[in-house]
Amino acid sequence: MASAAEGAGAPLVLLVHGGAGDVADEGVPRKLEGVRRAAQAGYEVLRGGGAALDAAVAAVHVMEDDDAFNAGYGSVLNVDGEVEMDALVMDGKTLNAGAVGVIPDVRHPIDAARLVMECAPHVLLVGEAAKRFAVARGVEAAPPGALVTPRAQAALRQAVERGDYTMHDTGGSTVGAVAIDSRGHLASATSTGGTSGKMVGRVGDTPLVGCGGYADDTVGTVSTTGHGESIIKTNLAHSIIVLMRQGLSAQDATQRALDELGRRLNNTAGAITLSNKGDVGVAFISKRMSWAYRKGNEMHYGIDPDQHCVEIVQEKEN
Ligand code: GLY
Repeated sequence: MASAAEGAGAPLVLLVHGGAGDVADEGVPRKLEGVRRAAQAGYEVLRGGGAALDAAVAAVHVMEDDDAFNAGYGSVLNVDGEVEMDALVMDGKTLNAGAVGVIPDVRHPIDAARLVMECAPHVLLVGEAAKRFAVARGVEAAPPGALVTPRAQAALRQAVERGDYTMHDTGGSTVGAVAIDSRGHLASATSTGGTSGKMVGRVGDTPLVGCGGYADDTVGTVSTTGHGESIIKTNLAHSIIVLMRQGLSAQDATQRALDELGRRLNNTAGAITLSNKGDVGVAFISKRMSWAYRKGNEMHYGIDPDQHCVEIVQEKEN
């Protein structure tokens, strides 16, 4: 049965990604399961009449708790073997944004980013200070080392052996969600552990407005993933928004901005986009990117290029 929120105006859409990169075959089932669970969790918030921002954050929570993804628990490690995470939220109605960079030892960095947006007179807080700010206001702390997984440790050893400290994929990568709610408002939420073997203190693209994400009710909303330094140099999220302003569809704008990044910088990335009409864009220039969206009673998902599966969701009667 449709909820009161459905059909009241704009279509409800909750779109997520679980990171672009070199996902190994054995990692595919958990990624697909995780992005579908996240899309469903976020959509339930929208269906209950919730705001796009609440829905996007709820979807990201699911992936931050799942070590199939490089965010929260399961984040990749810096060169000293520590977790330092980045996260960003943006509200398309107000253009308000909040972010944290290199934050240690919190279960849900996306909650810390939201707190910065709602409770600080700034957009971005970093490091221990960001953690203190967030934990003092109720964000759940994690004991030192609790977010470190054996897989992340193995990925760090590999990065050190190869001498390649730019890898953003260890079978998991950045996560993100974009949403449009029943009032037509948009939001974006993105969270990551960054790149394996990164320098201590490295800040990636994710917490930077216009790079890791963007939301503007007059156009659309974006969350990005991939090689952070390349995304920063191309302002990937805002580049997609600019192309949509020029009249491109969500899909064409996303694809074109990624093609430009690939052409100029020869690196991998991906992005998810929603227009303010609820049109969906999903594109990546990497081997794989897990994604899923719930729109009406349909769950769409995929991970390989050109893969697009659709399932009808049977709602439980209340
Ligand atoms: N896109 C995630 C990072 O490079 O930090």
